[in-house]
Amino acid sequence: MDQTVSPLAARRSGPLKGRTRVPGDKSISLRSLILGAMTVGETRITGMLEGEDALSTANAMKALGATVERTGELAWRIMGVGVGGFAEPRAPLDFGNSGTGCRLSMGAVAGCPITAIFDGDASLRTRPMRRILDPLEKMGARTREQADGGRLPLTMQGATDPLPMTYEPPVPSAQVKSAVLLAGLAAPGETTVIEQEATRDHTERMLRHFGAEVAVQPNGAHGRRITLKGQPELVPAPVTVPADPSSAAFPMVAALIAPGSEIVLEGVMTNVTRTGLFKTLREMGASIEELNPRVEGGEDVADLLVRASSLKGVEVPPERAPFMIDEYLVLGVAAAYAEGTTRMRGLKELRVKESDRLAATATMLRVNGVDVEIEGDDLIVHGKGRVTGGGLVATHMDHRIAMSALVMGLASEKPVQVDDTAFIATSFPGFVGMMRAMGGDLS
Ligand code: S3P
Repeated sequence: MDQTVSPLAARRSGPLKGRTRVPGDKSISLRSLILGAMTVGETRITGMLEGEDALSTANAMKALGATVERTGELAWRIMGVGVGGFAEPRAPLDFGNSGTGCRLSMGAVAGCPITAIFDGDASLRTRPMRRILDPLEKMGARTREQADGGRLPLTMQGATDPLPMTYEPPVPSAQVKSAVLLAGLAAPGETTVIEQEATRDHTERMLRHFGAEVAVQPNGAHGRRITLKGQPELVPAPVTVPADPSSAAFPMVAALIAPGSEIVLEGVMTNVTRTGLFKTLREMGASIEELNPRVEGGEDVADLLVRASSLKGVEVPPERAPFMIDEYLVLGVAAAYAEGTTRMRGLKELRVKESDRLAATATMLRVNGVDVEIEGDDLIVHGKGRVTGGGLVATHMDHRIAMSALVMGLASEKPVQVDDTAFIATSFPGFVGMMRAMGGDLS
C-alpha cells in the first residue's frame, strides 16, 4: 500500500448529523473473493469493501489463477477455478496488512497440490501463524518458515491428498475455523471444527450459499460444532455485502459521545456473531434503534439510529469477546466517556491483532488523560464522563487504533492527534471524509 505517513488531529465538534453507509463488511468481502475463486464459474459481488485488505486478497486470488475484475462501483466479478483448482503462483502472495485474507487463503491453498509463498507487511509479519499451520499440516499441507514461531514469510506446499479432520482450535478464532473448513473442501469425507466459544459464522453461511453441505450444532453453553461434507461442487451465486458493523462502530461511538448528535447508519449487518458491541453499548445506556430490519444477501441488516447518550460503566463478560473482538478499542473510548468503571474481561486474543491492542488501547487512553489499568487479560477503564485529550497516539500500523483515537478527539477538551492515518484504508476507505461530512472536525 501507499506508505505515505498521514498524521491527523480530531477536535471537539458540534453535534454529528446525517445518514450514511459505511463500507462493505470486511469478513464477507474477503470470503466472497476466496470462495468465489474456489467455485466453478462466475460469482458477482456487490457492495464489496474496496479497502487495501480486500484488494490484496483479490490480487492473491488472481495469482492463484482466478479471474477477478472490478465491473463498476463496489461491483466485482470472479471466474473461479473450482475446489483444488488453484494454479501455482509465480511470485509470493503479498497480503499486506490482512491477517484474515492471508490465513483464509492458507486454508484454501492447503487443499491444492501447489506451492505458494505467503507474505505481508511489517505488522502481518509479527502475527502468529502456527495456529493456522498446525491443523493444516495435520490435513497434509507442508510448511516452511524463514523466521521462528510460524511468522511470515513462509512457504506452503498444499496436500496432494488432503485428509478430513476433526479439530478443536485452542483459541476462539473464526480465522482458524475458516482455514480448516476451506482446506476441508478438498478432502474426502467430513471435516469438523469444534468451538468452545462460537465465533463469527460467515464462512459456514457462505459455504452453504455456494452449495456445500454444512451442519451446525450447539456445543456446550457457548460453543458450536460445525461439520462440512468434503469435495462439493461449489456453485456460483451472487453475493451482496452488507455494511460492516465493525466499521459502523466508529461513527456510532462518535455520535454517542458528541452531545446533541443524531445519525443513521444504513444497512448495517446485525448478525449476532458480530454485534457484541451494540449489546454492550446498550447496556451502558446507549440509544441505538434498529429501523427497517430486513434480510439482505442472506444476512440480517438494519438501519441504526444512534443518538448522543449518557453512558455508564459496565462489566463485559469474556464469552462475549469473539462477538466483538475488533471493537474493544472503540469500546475503550466509549468507556472513557461513561461515568464509572468498565471492566472488559478475557481479552487475551487482542494481543495478537494488527498490533497488541490490549496495550495499545490502554496507551491510547492514558496519553489522553484517561485512568486505565490492565489486570491479567482484563482491561479496566475508569470513566469520568469526559476526556481531557491532548495526546499523540501511535497507530502501530493498526487501522482501528487510528479511527478510535480520532473518534475520541471529537468530544475531548483538547485535540487528539494520531501519527498516521494511512492504514485506515485497509478497512474503511473514506472514513475521514464521512466523519467530516457528518460534522466531525478532523484536520
Ligand atoms: C475475522 C476474525 C477475527 C477478527 C478479524 C476478522 C474473520 O480474527 O479479528 O478482524 O473475518 O474471520 P480471529 O478469528 O483470529 O479472532
